[in-house]
Amino acid sequence: MSLGHEKIEKNVGLLIVLIAVAVSLGGLAEIVPLMHQAEAVTPLPGVKPYPALQLAGRDVYVREGCGNCHSQMVRTLRFETERYGHYSLAGESVYDRPFLWGSKRTGPDLARIGGRYSDDWHRVHLDDPRAVVPESNMPAFPWLSRNSIDGAQLAHKMRTLQGMGDPYTDAEIAQAPKDVVDSTELDAVVAYLQGLGKHAPKGG
Ligand code: HEC
Repeated sequence: MSLGHEKIEKNVGLLIVLIAVAVSLGGLAEIVPLMHQAEAVTPLPGVKPYPALQLAGRDVYVREGCGNCHSQMVRTLRFETERYGHYSLAGESVYDRPFLWGSKRTGPDLARIGGRYSDDWHRVHLDDPRAVVPESNMPAFPWLSRNSIDGAQLAHKMRTLQGMGDPYTDAEIAQAPKDVVDSTELDAVVAYLQGLGKHAPKGG
């Protein structure tokens, strides 16, 4: 051990300061380049801000805590890509605020669920999971089909997202309340699920 090293190890204050410096530099070296990486902030081709109904569904998904049991990120591991499809890319979730990648998987990952089942399957499954998957321990969400969507509030949300840089047009925002009129929260969640992974690259 060199003399300098010994001095540092015996001086707790100095050691703490130097550890803090070393950890901060390491953290910055990892985080700063990511913030400027084009592929982390550029949407994949076809990825657009969520259409009104899907945006409403996404909020219901967050509210109901679906993310406590379902991740939305396919890892770059063989057994994951074999099961779910292409691993997740940053450019898919540019418009996810907050992102819902998660790591808790009581149920399957949902990043590639869009188009895997019919709308009707999702409706029955959300209303009563055991009606279609007898061994399921997913909770039922029967109230979703009874709750309607507040179109005016949805337009406000889109306006806020627009202010944060999401490229919603004024026409889309004005149209939002009409787009969701007569829609239930169940319609919205199903629309959201069916859109997940739609623009992911094909294959594993
Ligand atoms: C307490 C944990 C839990 C919660 C909360 C939960 N799920 Fe699930 N989910 C599961 C489990 C376990 C399965 C696998 C069994 C099944 O298909 O029902 C599943 C399956 C699914 C599937 C089928 C996935 C596939 O690949 O077959 C979808 C879609 C789904 N859940 C959507 C949702 C949505 C939307 C919500 C919120 C409204 C939600 N889940 C909330 C546990 C949960």
